[in-house]
Amino acid sequence: MTAEPARPAASAPPLVETTGLRLALPDRAAPARLGRPRPVVEILKGIDLAIRRGESVGIVGESGSGKTSLGRTLLRLYRPTGGRIRFDGQDVTDLDQASLRPLRRRMQIIFQDPQSALNPRHTIAEILAQPLRAFGLAAGRRGEEEAAAELLRRVGLPAEAMWRYPHQLSGGQRQRVGIARAVAVEPHFIVADEIVSGLDVSSQARILDLLGRLKADLGLALAFISHDLSVIRVLCDRVVVMLHGAVVEEGRCDRVFEAPQHPYTAALIDAIPLPEIDPSWLERDNRSPMRDLRPNAIIEASPHRLQSGG
Ligand SMILES: Nc1ncnc2c1ncn2[C@@H]1O[C@H](COP(=O)(O)OP(=O)(O)O)[C@@H](O)[C@H]1O
Ligand SMILES: [Mg+2]
Repeated sequence: MTAEPARPAASAPPLVETTGLRLALPDRAAPARLGRPRPVVEILKGIDLAIRRGESVGIVGESGSGKTSLGRTLLRLYRPTGGRIRFDGQDVTDLDQASLRPLRRRMQIIFQDPQSALNPRHTIAEILAQPLRAFGLAAGRRGEEEAAAELLRRVGLPAEAMWRYPHQLSGGQRQRVGIARAVAVEPHFIVADEIVSGLDVSSQARILDLLGRLKADLGLALAFISHDLSVIRVLCDRVVVMLHGAVVEEGRCDRVFEAPQHPYTAALIDAIPLPEIDPSWLERDNRSPMRDLRPNAIIEASPHRLQSGG
């Protein structure tokens, strides 16, 4: 019997890999001068990162450390100014948008603020149908509605939610829609950028639980960006600590939490607001830190919320 069959083999080739990744963007703060290019700011300064299938890697660092820029560059939403990015063995560093298109279905993003990421004039059904249509995955209205109902079920929302507009849902429910939209196209890799930051602690716990289960069910590779180490500890296998556009520490979550090597990591750990953490979350022995939280709670809570929100 293997000790940890669910864990990705350490020898498996990474799904996403960067070597010496650099990103420089025109400095927004610098005044534009006629005839002279804007000076650039170095945002990512040579990042080596590997994420395997089924693995979730936390990317942590204080605001401005480059987490969002890294996430967007991993998805080739930015073109790096140095280094290489490989996706599933293919070098995607210099691909143009047309060549990236077939890969887009396999890599998705979930944004921090579903309020602004979800079109307020579209119903949830419409929001979920869009990625399906974009990749030719839905067969007509009927097929789209069936797909939307199934996606909503997957993320713990009632099927009736598809007839609502984003403002009629709670923050946690909106974030579930953001997750449903990302998994709609059956991606292999998801970047989740501060997706629980705006939520209260119990909604955070439920969203982390959902994401952990989807990750396991779908074999997703996850880059989970957060400034908050406590949520990374709940969800992630490994953590990468960023400071000023560089990685200062990287390792398995349990090792990094027990014995941080870099003083900046130690400072981030010290900054975790312990009283807000349910100690059961930190039980990592059987890799299901959220097992005490009833996953059905949201399903029970949702119809009520939907009625009152309607
Ligand atoms: N388009 C841009 N042009 C210039 N500077 C940028 C741009 N986007 C981000 N930055 C700068 O890059 C740094 C990293 O930003 P970001 O990746 O958003 O960090 P984080 O997500 O960790 O808060 C910040 O100093 C930010 O001001
Ligand atoms: Mg950010």
